[in-house]
Amino acid sequence: MTEAAKNAGARELEFAILRHNPADPDSVPREQVFTLHEAAGMTLFIALNELRQHQDASLQFDFVCRAGICGSCGMLINGRPGLACRTLTADLPRRIQLAPLPGFELIGDLSVNTGKWMRGMSERLETWVHDQALEQLDIDALEQPMEPEQAEAIYELERCIECGCCVGACGSAMMHEDFVGAVGLNQIARFRLDPRDKREDADYYALVGDESGVFGCMTLLGCEDVCPKDLPLATQIAFLRRRMTAAVIARG
Ligand code: SF4
Ligand code: F3S
Ligand code: FES
Repeated sequence: MTEAAKNAGARELEFAILRHNPADPDSVPREQVFTLHEAAGMTLFIALNELRQHQDASLQFDFVCRAGICGSCGMLINGRPGLACRTLTADLPRRIQLAPLPGFELIGDLSVNTGKWMRGMSERLETWVHDQALEQLDIDALEQPMEPEQAEAIYELERCIECGCCVGACGSAMMHEDFVGAVGLNQIARFRLDPRDKREDADYYALVGDESGVFGCMTLLGCEDVCPKDLPLATQIAFLRRRMTAAVIARG
């Protein structure tokens, strides 16, 4: 019998939620415990909305799509980063601890500013196609057919929803504020695959060839363990590291 099937039915769930409002000078981080009757098919999204609607209107958390697409509901669920909208309470024990994802600016309670972090990372790594034809708006030169295998390989990495779970699970990201995380390295791997991006390995090396990039990763693998999109992060990082090392050797 699955964990979900075993737990299905009437449980009195206990939610221990880390509360803190950094905008309020009187706020002190604390754990607040709520109880809630479990319903069939209940997700953390449903549970948190019930709590906010009926028990505490000040509870802060983020959701947009409720379908594992927008990446806004990442949080620590019993100590493990995950998407609240895709997590069934039936798969969890009766006591559920929720905390904000570490590594991001706290907005309040379970809400963190992943958008600001992702934008900073994206600007720093220049995660867009670099091509003169694009700068000159030469659409004919840009609109070249691509081999289906190549498009599929790019699409595989493009499935990232920028939820931040890989950052929240990464010891290197906790130690080095400027580490671009598996999400950033995945972006570099994605653009390296794109034939429209005319950057060379030396250009990528300038962006991630240091401790804030590929050489800051300690191969802890937490990123791949928690990625809700099952992206092959460890393989991509190892490949990039080999390419960046080769770029250094080639430079002499
Ligand atoms: Fe989320 Fe995975 Fe993208 Fe990291 S790589 S931000 S865990 S989808
Ligand atoms: Fe962090 Fe993943 Fe590397 S968890 S240390 S980015 S393998
Ligand atoms: Fe969009 Fe969870 S609400 S991924």
